[in-house]
Amino acid sequence: MRASEVGYWDNNFKSLDKNMVTDNVWKRQQLLKKLLTHDFIGSSVLEIGVGFGTVAFIFQRLYLSTLKYVGTDVSHKVCEFLRNGHGIDMVHTDITKLPKIEPDGFDYIIALDVLEHINPKDRELGYDEMYDSLSDGGLILINNPLDESNHDGEFDYGLDDKGIANMCGDRFELSIKAPYSVKCKQRVCNYEWIEMRKI
Ligand SMILES: C[S@@+](CC[C@H](N)C(=O)[O-])C[C@H]1O[C@@H](n2cnc3c(N)ncnc32)[C@H](O)[C@@H]1O
Repeated sequence: MRASEVGYWDNNFKSLDKNMVTDNVWKRQQLLKKLLTHDFIGSSVLEIGVGFGTVAFIFQRLYLSTLKYVGTDVSHKVCEFLRNGHGIDMVHTDITKLPKIEPDGFDYIIALDVLEHINPKDRELGYDEMYDSLSDGGLILINNPLDESNHDGEFDYGLDDKGIANMCGDRFELSIKAPYSVKCKQRVCNYEWIEMRKI
């Protein structure tokens, strides 16, 4: 994990504990609909790059103790806020060192608007880590922004079709790759919802 990444994301989430009214609630509503097509009851979930914490908060309240949820983030600020402030199981780490705390691997890995931020030098190792952390037949649920990013280019590399094919290799089967748009305030934002299963 690079110090520059920790610094960038800590700064990005500096007002995490305040009401972030500019956050894209329209997208989040769509994401929750997509996530909740799955039956998470009794399952284990690893979320990479929890950030704002929407999934962590909702899952905590929705599934109670029927779900084993572990979140990760490179930002100390995010980890402290969710762990100390809200009792969410958080590990401060990046994609190259995911927690292996489920003996047979997690049933789901969730990565929403995260994989485009992974430094290309870390991608191969990161995808290996996702594979090793997932149970046999487990699912990876990904949201991938398609519009030009507002993030600093040093921390946002994009994830194109070639990158997605590299991620899949012959270890994950791509079951869904569906673009969608959300009308947010005056503009339309474009994303891609991806589901891939460990072969
Ligand atoms: C755009 S935010 C998305 C946050 C959250 N998933 C959401 O939808 O609100 C990107 C997240 O990826 C995390 N991140 C950045 N680089 C990462 C890396 N190398 N490994 C794992 N997570 C990373 C950041 O800390 C941040 O929380």
